[in-house]
Amino acid sequence: MDAILEIAERRGLVVIEDAAQALHAAFRGKQLGTFGDAAAISFHETKNLMSGEGGALVVNNPGWTERAEIIWEKGTNRAAFARGEIARYTWVDLGSSFLPSELTAAFLLAQLEAGADVTAQRLFAWQRYHEALAPLEAAGLLIRPTVPAECRHNGHIYYVLTRDGATRDAALLQLREQNVMAVMHYVPLHSSPAGRRFARTPTPLPITDDLSSRLIRLPLYPSISAQEQAHVVGALERVLAPMGCLARPHASPTLQPRTAAPIPAEMGVFGSAD
Ligand SMILES: Cc1ncc(COP(=O)(O)O)c(C=O)c1O
Repeated sequence: MDAILEIAERRGLVVIEDAAQALHAAFRGKQLGTFGDAAAISFHETKNLMSGEGGALVVNNPGWTERAEIIWEKGTNRAAFARGEIARYTWVDLGSSFLPSELTAAFLLAQLEAGADVTAQRLFAWQRYHEALAPLEAAGLLIRPTVPAECRHNGHIYYVLTRDGATRDAALLQLREQNVMAVMHYVPLHSSPAGRRFARTPTPLPITDDLSSRLIRLPLYPSISAQEQAHVVGALERVLAPMGCLARPHASPTLQPRTAAPIPAEMGVFGSAD
């Protein structure tokens, strides 16, 4: 964020955070979604706190609040009217019907009120995976996530990295056979058909491509039990061990623990050292 905000400041750009998954997560003690001029939070059913569909626009730039409210209110100044600031309301700008229904808002309110508990339960399950998977990482079967010291995450996902994309794809199929609903994460936008059509990157993104091809998301939800997590870990070990995963040097230097010395490629070690 420091680098992004510094570039934006220097070039006179605005910053809009995609904080879709970021509720109850922080960077250096500051809640995500509060760094830029605005941020978008998702309440899609796949998020930690949700209302089925929907989201929130966080407006941090005071100069944007009035227009944001008008866009939200179908392009009218109805909110100002409701506050008694004007005698009647009318259409003053573009807009749409972005506001949730009362029912949706009531459902979401209960989720938001339970936010700290939900996050604590997810973090507990996250940590249980992390500890149970340490021996698999030490054996070179997979790489666990690394959370930088200045970041406080919210247990949204637990993922592991396999040695390569072929191993990941085969592992996903075999995990399904063992009743484990593990999945890949997103196809990087720049390599998706629409990304290639509508956007471009200044350089190839080999690290993004590599990581996305090797990533497995494990089932994680607040009520997941110790037994269910043990089943997932056991299944991962049964699936990955025969695939002989020890020969690949670490291809993702950005995911190395920050305190660890770089692993020389000639050591042929797959895994990190914490
Ligand atoms: C990082 C990120 N951005 C944006 C979105 C889109 O959110 P929504 O489905 O609420 O539009 C998601 C949803 O998965 C996401 O994870």
